[in-house]
Amino acid sequence: MLKNQKSLVIYFSKKDENYTVGYLEKGNTEVIAEYIQELVNADLFQVERKSPYAKDYQTCTLEAKEELENNLRPELLHYLDNIDNYEVIYIGQPVWWDYPPMPMYTQLEKLNWQGKIVMPFTTHEGSGLGHCVSAIQKICVGAEVRDGLAIQGSMVKNAKSEVEKWIYQNEK
Ligand SMILES: Cc1cc2nc3c(=O)[nH]c(=O)nc-3n(C[C@H](O)[C@H](O)[C@H](O)COP(=O)(O)O)c2cc1C
Repeated sequence: MLKNQKSLVIYFSKKDENYTVGYLEKGNTEVIAEYIQELVNADLFQVERKSPYAKDYQTCTLEAKEELENNLRPELLHYLDNIDNYEVIYIGQPVWWDYPPMPMYTQLEKLNWQGKIVMPFTTHEGSGLGHCVSAIQKICVGAEVRDGLAIQGSMVKNAKSEVEKWIYQNEK
């Protein structure tokens, strides 16, 4: 049972100016990460870029595009050294230009994924999962990557039951 396994959520989420809903106190992906924390009693690890992205949306999209196009690995504020204590890792991010934000690559590439169960999820404004699941499959060598969940950013407040259903449906 996924619910009974030692679980961790590794996520990136950006508050401040957002696509449709103005300034957010809490990022959309973080809202979903906290639902998972409540539902399966998971620990949380937030990936944060050492030098924060611009607060305003437009500038941030340009910064993100440049990082993606140059395949950069930005430095992080803090790093997770290992995931030895966990069996199930939920990996969550906003879709940025169809891919995970590059700080996720910086963090995920440092970890040993052998034998782990990975549950990928995104929040987005139209792209769904984008290329996030295939990106995660490439990075998390040796992990069993299960079906992804995509939640539209403006819908996160009412999405807890959808998250619960996704976890339930991924029992194997
Ligand atoms: C830099 C940037 C790029 C984005 N690119 C996409 C995209 O390609 N497709 C999409 O559906 N939404 C895109 N969005 C919208 C976010 O994925 C969406 O608002 C998400 O819920 C934000 O999550 P967060 O609040 O956890 O950061 C982008 C947002 C930003 C800031």
